[in-house]
Amino acid sequence: MDPMLEIAWMTYAGARVNRTAISRSDCSGAAMLRDAPDPGPPSSTNGHSVSHDSPPEPLTSSPGTPLRGRLRPPGDKSISHRAMILGLLSEGETRVEGLLEGDDVLRTAAAAKALGASVERLDAGRWRVRGVGIGGLGDPADVLDFGNAGTGSRLMMGVVGGQPVTATFDGDASLRSRPMRRILDPLTRMGTQVLTEAEGGRVPLTLRGPKEAIPITYETPAASAQIKSAVLLAGLNAPGTTTVIEAAATRDHTERMLRLFGAAVEVVSHGPEGHGRSIALTGQPTLRGTDVVVPADPSSAAFPLVAALIVPGSDVVIEGVMMNPLRTGLITTLLEMGAEIERIAERDEGGETVADLRVRASRLKGVDVPAERAPAMIDEYPVLAVAASFAEGRTRMNGLHELRVKESDRLAAVAAGLATNGVRHTVEGDDLVVEGDGAAARGGGTVATYLDHRIAMAFLVMGLATRDPVTVDDGAMIATSFPTFLPTMRALGGRIGA
Ligand code: S3P
Repeated sequence: MDPMLEIAWMTYAGARVNRTAISRSDCSGAAMLRDAPDPGPPSSTNGHSVSHDSPPEPLTSSPGTPLRGRLRPPGDKSISHRAMILGLLSEGETRVEGLLEGDDVLRTAAAAKALGASVERLDAGRWRVRGVGIGGLGDPADVLDFGNAGTGSRLMMGVVGGQPVTATFDGDASLRSRPMRRILDPLTRMGTQVLTEAEGGRVPLTLRGPKEAIPITYETPAASAQIKSAVLLAGLNAPGTTTVIEAAATRDHTERMLRLFGAAVEVVSHGPEGHGRSIALTGQPTLRGTDVVVPADPSSAAFPLVAALIVPGSDVVIEGVMMNPLRTGLITTLLEMGAEIERIAERDEGGETVADLRVRASRLKGVDVPAERAPAMIDEYPVLAVAASFAEGRTRMNGLHELRVKESDRLAAVAAGLATNGVRHTVEGDDLVVEGDGAAARGGGTVATYLDHRIAMAFLVMGLATRDPVTVDDGAMIATSFPTFLPTMRALGGRIGA
């Protein structure tokens, strides 16, 4: 890598977590991607740098003046992971514009490199991947350490599980606590051997893929794009059609991007009400490297968006936000709550519709959020709960069982965060009910974040509008998905400090 780029990379606002890791153990994704002659993958013995070795970094947000200005959130995390993975599996060169340079995606990039791809950072957000093609992967020399990244690890398990390679997956304390059986079950049916696993089907675990995967038809047991994607990625090396049936449609980035790279994927609606989908992939295509433009992540946009709604007098424009209907459940819900969100300059970017969103502080009212909407806003419930704390009346969020297996038990973490900040709420089974009175919530609490970036950002947003400041016990994990969160929020006028 060009030395100037190296410096730019190291001083990049978002590389704080990586810098910490580099100086200590040289095992993070960023360190992995330096153009060293033979960089090994991160090692499991010292690879838990972000979460195991770093001291917690508390942050406090305080109410202040209205938020004003424009911002562009970072690239979409889901698409960024997939760009690296499909780049690895392609022949030729993939160029990515607008890649999210957060720790999660850097781990996936490092894993792609460890499995044989050449991965280079050309400039901010601009990356080049030279792939090895389906069947061309090599055994990584060391453990694939995915840090905090559920998506990267699960999708890459699909890749490894379908190809004749052996690899060990590991991650931080959060990832080590997350269920992987949901991925291992279908992979085993496709011929993957699980050589070792931690108790309960968790990482660290070692997979060995078959020479060719067995094509299967698989009904996903949970509405999960990660399960769907792992099966489809394994199916790339199956001689025949691999079909995934989902009872409720989840984000469709894998299907769309597989087509972009040259695979044949047929999608039809499924189920009596047509909420589901059946996705059929023809195996053993030749994937060709291509250009990927990554739109701004709606799940990251959600934080400044809700902040602008709840901080009185705010008026903010959020640029280039992906409007894929399987990702816009939060916007639908906030509009129902009375939010002033204007979609302007709608356009196509890299095969997705994007729009600029003008958001003005609004009087919100409580609503019922149907369980069917959950897949389209699964990562946005923490910040929706914050919005609901400022709304007048009751907001009921139905069917949140999947929140229990995110980076933290998000349902419990959100409830505890609301409690410590004086917000009335109940958890009824898998539903969260928040009672607001239309005025500023009290605040004043310290929120436990459990290595969960979205819990940290949601409650920092809350503290911009509460009567008293809100503290989160650790903001370090924000760098996994929104490394520029602090400067972005500060540029709008948000008061967030150590
Ligand atoms: C993702 C799918 C979702 C989401 C995650 C990203 C993806 O997880 O929560 O942040 O990129 O496929 P599940 O598939 O477990 O719902």
